[in-house]
Amino acid sequence: MERVKSGIPGLDELTGGGLPRNHLILVTGTSGTGKTVFGTQFVYTGVKRFRENSVYLSFEEPAETIAENAKGFGWDFKELERQGKFTFIKYDPYHIEDVFDILESEIRNIKATRVVVDSISALGLHVRDDAELRRMIFNLSLALRKLSCTSIIISEIVPGTRGLSRYGVEEFVADGVIVLYYERIETSFARTLHVWKMRGSKHSEKLHPYKIDTSGITVYPEEEAFMKER
Ligand SMILES: Nc1ncnc2c1ncn2[C@@H]1O[C@H](COP(=O)(O)OP(=O)(O)O)[C@@H](O)[C@H]1O
Ligand SMILES: [Mg+2]
Repeated sequence: MERVKSGIPGLDELTGGGLPRNHLILVTGTSGTGKTVFGTQFVYTGVKRFRENSVYLSFEEPAETIAENAKGFGWDFKELERQGKFTFIKYDPYHIEDVFDILESEIRNIKATRVVVDSISALGLHVRDDAELRRMIFNLSLALRKLSCTSIIISEIVPGTRGLSRYGVEEFVADGVIVLYYERIETSFARTLHVWKMRGSKHSEKLHPYKIDTSGITVYPEEEAFMKER
């Protein structure tokens, strides 16, 4: 199976050498776990280091905010956009049903092979009907596969619930699931990552610590983390 480098130091060691090319990976976790950092790191390094053009669709924060935060990591998305290697998609909340058509045409336009959708939970703010939303998520997964993109879809874990995602369909349409946790251990909070599933891969079944600092996310594949029982 062909794999792409995630661009996140330490992560590829957990999944057998990288994310399977053309697969759809769900990155999920509660708010503040670093899902947006994960997504931006995946596409930024994708363009810069691995020559894979990329598209980022955000329903949550405006493109300007994400680009501004990314500067804190030294990632200049404006430059990549000028070079035609990267696009932030602006969506129209009044024509939300068209958003995935726009995504598809932008992927074709710049021949993108990496895509991030951030987040399905925020898309739910614009699509009131849950059945319609589930249909959209399913169609999105089909479109991304057809377009030969390695994709990250982001969803939210609601604190205190046991599900892996907001709508409960995200993990079924995804080929892989990576869960980010941010939980209290005694007097402080610890960040831990778990590869929940990764089709076609022998992956780590352990909880691993990760950090977020000025170089983005770094995972520690050799270390195991502790978490209170769920
Ligand atoms: N430049 C930075 N340096 C260090 N940590 C950062 C930086 N930017 C964000 N973080 C950490 O990442 C967290 C937010 O990550 P984010 O990706 O926005 O979370 P999510 O999308 O899961 O809600 C912040 O609360 C902070 O702890
Ligand atoms: Mg976010």
